[in-house]
Amino acid sequence: DEDGYDLWLRYRPLERASQQRVQAQARSIVLAGASSPTTDAALAELDKGLSGTMGRAPAHTARIGDGALLLATPARLPALADTASPLRTELATLGDEGYLLRQTRMQGHQVTLIAANTDIGLLYGAFAWLREAAIGNMRAASSAPKLQLRLLNHWDNLDRTVERGYAGQSIWDWWALPDIKDQRYTDYARANASLGINGTVLNNVNSKPEILTAPFIAKAAAVADILRPYGIKVYLSARFSTPLELHETSTADPLAPEVQQWWNKKADEIYKSIPDFGGFLVKANSEGQPGPQDYHRTHADGANMLAAAVAPHKGIVMWRAFVYAPKGAHLADDRAKQAYEEFKPLDGTFAANVLVQVKNGAIDFQPREPFHPLFGAMPKTPLMMEFQITKEYLGYSTDLAYLGTLFEETLDSDTRTGKTVAQTLSGMAGVANIGSDRNWAGSHFDQANWYAFGKLAWNPQATASDIAIEWAALTFGPDQRVTTPVTEMLMMSRETVVNYMTPLGLHHMMGTSHHFGPAPWVDNLERPDWNPVYYHRADRNGIGFNRTAIGSNALEQYAPEIARQYADPHTTPQQLLLWFHHLPWDYAMPSGRTLWAELLARYDKGVADTKLLHARWTALKPFIDTRRYTEVEQRLVRQTQNAILWRDACIAYFQSVSGLPLPPGVQAPA
Ligand code: GCU
Repeated sequence: DEDGYDLWLRYRPLERASQQRVQAQARSIVLAGASSPTTDAALAELDKGLSGTMGRAPAHTARIGDGALLLATPARLPALADTASPLRTELATLGDEGYLLRQTRMQGHQVTLIAANTDIGLLYGAFAWLREAAIGNMRAASSAPKLQLRLLNHWDNLDRTVERGYAGQSIWDWWALPDIKDQRYTDYARANASLGINGTVLNNVNSKPEILTAPFIAKAAAVADILRPYGIKVYLSARFSTPLELHETSTADPLAPEVQQWWNKKADEIYKSIPDFGGFLVKANSEGQPGPQDYHRTHADGANMLAAAVAPHKGIVMWRAFVYAPKGAHLADDRAKQAYEEFKPLDGTFAANVLVQVKNGAIDFQPREPFHPLFGAMPKTPLMMEFQITKEYLGYSTDLAYLGTLFEETLDSDTRTGKTVAQTLSGMAGVANIGSDRNWAGSHFDQANWYAFGKLAWNPQATASDIAIEWAALTFGPDQRVTTPVTEMLMMSRETVVNYMTPLGLHHMMGTSHHFGPAPWVDNLERPDWNPVYYHRADRNGIGFNRTAIGSNALEQYAPEIARQYADPHTTPQQLLLWFHHLPWDYAMPSGRTLWAELLARYDKGVADTKLLHARWTALKPFIDTRRYTEVEQRLVRQTQNAILWRDACIAYFQSVSGLPLPPGVQAPA
């Protein structure tokens, strides 16, 4: 029985035909040149992978022979440095992290070459080759990341609770560090490196001053030492008022010289222990966090001050655009507009080593949101995409929802500024769904979301379905009788959740603070823009948030083509209809139904599709190990219950405000 700990790096025995194909490419393993911690990691992974898939790992030899699996860089192997070699020309296009896999002749022998410009590229190449082996493909490949920064963001607290985490405690055992280093840290590094993730922010964006004190720097350094051979840099979330709260300055005003000096010295201190420290992630002036606006300074003033401290060390600052104005202060009439209003005017004023990190949508990681209007609107500022891998609003680790399709939908959106959202990015961050549960992610299918994030960070043009097929094969074995239905389950799952939670562009109707389950009726929270009623605006006459010119006019934050298209409900994509429009209950939908009937139909479809998910899974019972089969099955049963609750609660509530009868044939909820 499998417990899921091995993730997509299972390396289970292959069937004979595949074994023969793999064996032909790896009769021996040859590393050109001397070993390094990173090539050690690559070789160890090849050993592990081949002993698993083949039963035993081939010998490591110094000499190239026929059938060798050869790892080489131009610096390690003169033949690759030869300017006449086409391989060298190809490598020159692959940058510091790219790799190629190729059948070729080397020193008179037929070899399988894993080549790169750096040792990290070799490690990525080794993982790619092992992936091919596990699926039995053995294809040639050449690949380089399209985005430079590919980070996980852990919302992990120092007491090991995880904000919005549904997979147990934090894997970072701060108490035991730095002396006691869990093997899990190495396995974490392997999993991430296998996807090309090259950075991790260890602690929650709602940060504490303690993380920047000497004891925690030493703990973070111990983690950094483990991750370094895998090409993963450590970053920390910094609380803006840290020096003030540690009583080491009298203010946290970013323009006060003592504050700049404190951060400069702090950066020096960190880089002494972590020479390749990545930099800081900052949540400022958002949801009660301190920030430069407390001193009437701008986000740019705050970010640039921190950027100046890390710049001499080549560090960066990722400054989050998820801001909410404090109560009463220049509060926009639509929360969806606030980030754009605060950040757009600052375009061009950020230091060169600052990136602005923007959530995929303007509200908050909803099952579906239009892309954030800041994408395409800040051409002079490098932007990071922030996706949420953990499913805060999509049913935790209970409901099955593959986020590959959600990520893809955002990345492929055309900003109508000449670029897709993906093309506006310099990096991508994913709020991790990782915890100390045996299977890391809380449920087996949630591993696919970590996987899809990593793959899309490497190549934002990859497709969610290709990624799903690959993940399914690596996770459940390359048998098409399994991978095809599993891929179908993955591909339908997110739309299913949208349908039973927030169809047709509805959003933010989840229960207060926990965000699990429906609560469209809540109208009494401290701030109006926390109440679900603020978002759906359902009343006797209709439903939806009017964001056109006669409403909040959030639409004007998009490029004119989009603003024009979405100004009219008839040309607004149906899936975003009630995000942008308040419409009468009897509004005629393209289906011929009224809006009310369409809403009911969507909720019903959501429920029906959870049953379909369940049926697809039960048909797989003969092919899946009992433990994983059962753990998934239990969740699918629960998902149908969740969907029914969502549907019935929302329909009952909307009916109570609309006063409309249920259409013929629909049962009033019991
Ligand atoms: C959401 C989430 C919070 C989180 C915040 C953020 O609002 O519910 O837990 O702190 O996003 O992204 O900063």
